[in-house]
Amino acid sequence: MTDSRTASSFARLLKVINKREARVAVLGQGYIGFPLSLLLAKAGFRVVGYDINSQLVQRLKAGLTPFSGETGLDDLLMAAKRSGEYSPTSNASEIRGSDVYVIAVPTPRINGGEPDLSYLRSALELVKASVDRDCLVVVESTVPPGTTAGLVARELAKLSWAKIFVAHCPERAMPGKLIEELTHAHRVIGGVDEESGRLAQELYASFSEGKITVTDALTAEVVKLVENTYRDVNIALANEIARICSALGVSARRVIEIANMHPRVAILRPGIGVGGSCLTKDPLFLANASMERGYVPELILRARGINESMPELAAREILDFIESTERSRSQAVVAVLGTAYKGGVSDARGSPAGQLIRLLLSGGVEVRAYDPRCRESFGAEMTNDPYEAAKGACCVVLATDHPEFYELSLTSLREYCAQDGPVLLYDGRLVFRREIVEKAGFVYSGIGEPSLRPSALIGARVGTRQRA
Ligand SMILES: NC(=O)c1ccc[n+]([C@@H]2O[C@H](COP(=O)([O-])OP(=O)(O)OC[C@H]3O[C@@H](n4cnc5c(N)ncnc54)[C@H](O)[C@@H]3O)[C@@H](O)[C@H]2O)c1
Repeated sequence: MTDSRTASSFARLLKVINKREARVAVLGQGYIGFPLSLLLAKAGFRVVGYDINSQLVQRLKAGLTPFSGETGLDDLLMAAKRSGEYSPTSNASEIRGSDVYVIAVPTPRINGGEPDLSYLRSALELVKASVDRDCLVVVESTVPPGTTAGLVARELAKLSWAKIFVAHCPERAMPGKLIEELTHAHRVIGGVDEESGRLAQELYASFSEGKITVTDALTAEVVKLVENTYRDVNIALANEIARICSALGVSARRVIEIANMHPRVAILRPGIGVGGSCLTKDPLFLANASMERGYVPELILRARGINESMPELAAREILDFIESTERSRSQAVVAVLGTAYKGGVSDARGSPAGQLIRLLLSGGVEVRAYDPRCRESFGAEMTNDPYEAAKGACCVVLATDHPEFYELSLTSLREYCAQDGPVLLYDGRLVFRREIVEKAGFVYSGIGEPSLRPSALIGARVGTRQRA
């Protein structure tokens, strides 16, 4: 490959991207690839959204978005249908000859935290089979450090007759705010060389209104992993503080509220755990890469362990409460409000509610669940409203802080619960105020709240009305 070949390929691609004449293929039409495809189509590119899941593609062709609760997504899909610039497909031949390939396939972790790069490898094989001209390949998927300049560039270099520019643009948008963040958030782009970074920058500037920082591929990979590690460690600190406060008999919520009034303190909220597809794996990708090079990042690994242990702590406190009321576990019903991994989303991947439900079920209690946005049950009996879930329950767990739950009438909820003794409202997200919960007739406890004292059970008001 001569420099003049690189220069002319770069000039051609820059021109077609600038003029929105580039044909773009996005591999993977999930949480990230689908909205990204629509934004590129809105910017004026002809976008083929390829996915191996033909059922998903059928839905997209029918104009149905695959997930709910994303502001602006339906409008973008309708606009793309009208303009004809977006074509979803599971026919690989339709991405042949693209000028740009964007890879947004899953990169999950397997057991110990090792990355599973099999989806990325198969997407790369497809790109290799589709290339018939010089092109740009962008990896959006989260990858372990070194993957873009290593595995990806190495595989693509096998097509020695083509000039393939390679960049990593790690996606950091959050479900629930996908369109807003894809459009406005700061972006980092890492090119394996200067030209690759520049071409990717031009592509993203077509729809992004946020600042774009261009750097090398390794730095971009590490930035993405460090950001999520920062959040995971901060949440683990909050959870550690919650456990300390519980042991000391002081409210962690109050302690954190007051501590955060200090101008240089910003502790996140403790809770029943960390879920989602990113925070549960990105710190491990970073830690694994570091350990492979001889440094064991103990803080990061410990933080992950603390966050993973939270559902177990919640399950233990709930089962202890049931035992303290002398109810038999086999007759106890626990209502779990929320199965999505966090409030406001329909995504249940890695949800701590799942781990909590499984632990409660294996503890021998009946579990009913309700989620206004997500149908994942994790083995619990799924109900159609929170009151149905609470019917006869001796414990209600707030597992996901959906905005819908802020509106709940706790007094009504209590009336559906068990009437034969105290009922616990276990606030796994520290959403409710103790005084209001207790006024409604529940015993209140939750992550980082002072441990339940037997005296808390005495005199807990019992509701009178049962739902028909
Ligand atoms: N979801 C998030 O919040 C988020 C945020 C930032 C980054 N990421 C990263 O983005 C990447 C994609 O995540 P996602 O949440 O969109 O995943 P997803 O599971 O929602 O979607 C991935 C899609 O890729 C498809 N797919 C798998 N193999 C394929 C192949 N060879 N060719 C074409 N399609 C294929 C799947 O069928 C699926 O529809 C991951 O690396 C993830 O870590 C996700």
